[in-house]
Amino acid sequence: MFELKEFENRLEKRWRHLQKWVKKNDVEYFRLYDRDIHQAPLIIDRLKDCWLVWVCEHDSEDMNPLLMLTADRLKELAIGEVFIKDRTKDKRLKITSECPDKIITEGGLKFKVKPTQYLDTGLFIDHRLLREYIRSISKGKRVLNLFSYTGSVSCYAIAGGAAFTRSVDISPVYSEWHQENCELNMFDPNTYGILTRDCRKFLWESKEQFDIIFCDPPSFSQTKRNHLGHFQVQEHGGELIEQCLKRLCNGGQLIFSTNFRKFKLEKAFNINGQKIKELTNQLCSKDFEGKWGSRCWEIKRSN
Ligand SMILES: C[S@@+](CC[C@H](N)C(=O)[O-])C[C@H]1O[C@@H](n2cnc3c(N)ncnc32)[C@H](O)[C@@H]1O
Repeated sequence: MFELKEFENRLEKRWRHLQKWVKKNDVEYFRLYDRDIHQAPLIIDRLKDCWLVWVCEHDSEDMNPLLMLTADRLKELAIGEVFIKDRTKDKRLKITSECPDKIITEGGLKFKVKPTQYLDTGLFIDHRLLREYIRSISKGKRVLNLFSYTGSVSCYAIAGGAAFTRSVDISPVYSEWHQENCELNMFDPNTYGILTRDCRKFLWESKEQFDIIFCDPPSFSQTKRNHLGHFQVQEHGGELIEQCLKRLCNGGQLIFSTNFRKFKLEKAFNINGQKIKELTNQLCSKDFEGKWGSRCWEIKRSN
C-alpha cells in the first residue's frame, strides 16, 4: 500500500540533494520531483519564491488529500505560495489561483515566466544546459532558432556574441513574449529578428545561410495557422532536418532536440555518412539526472 511517508521522505531527500547545486549556481527555477513515486503523480517545481505543482495523469478518485499534504510539506522546505496546475486530459482540476508573472534570472539573463496562464511557463528548464551550450558556441555566428517559443535560446545566443539571431515561431503570442525577453535583457534590436511564421514554410522559402541552427519542434502540432497540415516529429522530423542542413554553411551545426519519448533519429533520417553526436547526457542538469528530459543531437554539415 502507498505510504505517504515514503513520498514525504522523497521530497526531503530531493531537496537536500539539490541544495548545494542550487546555491552554488543561483538556480531560481528547478525541478524538485517528477512522478518518482507512482501513487504521487505530480511534478513539482520551485519557481523563485513559490511552488508550482502539476497534477499528471492519475487513476485516483480524489487527489485532494495528497495535494494538501504536498502543500504543507513544501512550505516546510521553503516558504512560498503553492500553485496547483492540472496537466491531465480531462482538466477536472483547475489552477488553485492565478500566479502573477515573474522574472527569472538564469545564467545572468532575465526571462519572463507566466507560471499559471498557459500549460507551459515560458521557460523549459530541462533545456538549461543546452541554452548554455548554445551561448558557448555562438560568438560571431549567424544563428537560426526554429520553433523559438519565447526566445530563450536566442537570448543566450545573443549574449554569447552571435552576429545575429533569426527566430521563427508560428505564434504571435510567443513572438511578443520573445520580444519582451529581448527587451528585458536590453539587447540591441539590430542583433535579432523575430518572425511569426510556419518554420517549414520559412525553410523552403529562405535562401539565407546560417552557422548554427537550433531546431526544437513540438512532438505534434496542428494549428489553423499552419497551412502545411499536421506535423508529427517522427513522421516529419527527417524532412525538417534535411531542410535545416540545406540552410547551414559548410561546417555549420544543427542542434536538433525533441521531447517525444519514442523518437528514433535513425528511423526519421538517414544517418549514414553524417557527423552526428548525441548531446543528451552532456547537457542534462542535476535536477533532471535519471529523469526524462529532451533528447538532443548535434549534426554537422560537411560538404
Ligand atoms: C517545444 S516548443 C519549443 C521550445 C523552444 N525551442 C525552447 O527551447 O524554449 C514548440 C513551439 O513550436 C511552435 N510551433 C508549432 N508548430 C509550428 C510551426 N509549424 N511553425 C513554427 N512554429 C511552430 C509553438 O508555437 C511553440 O512555441
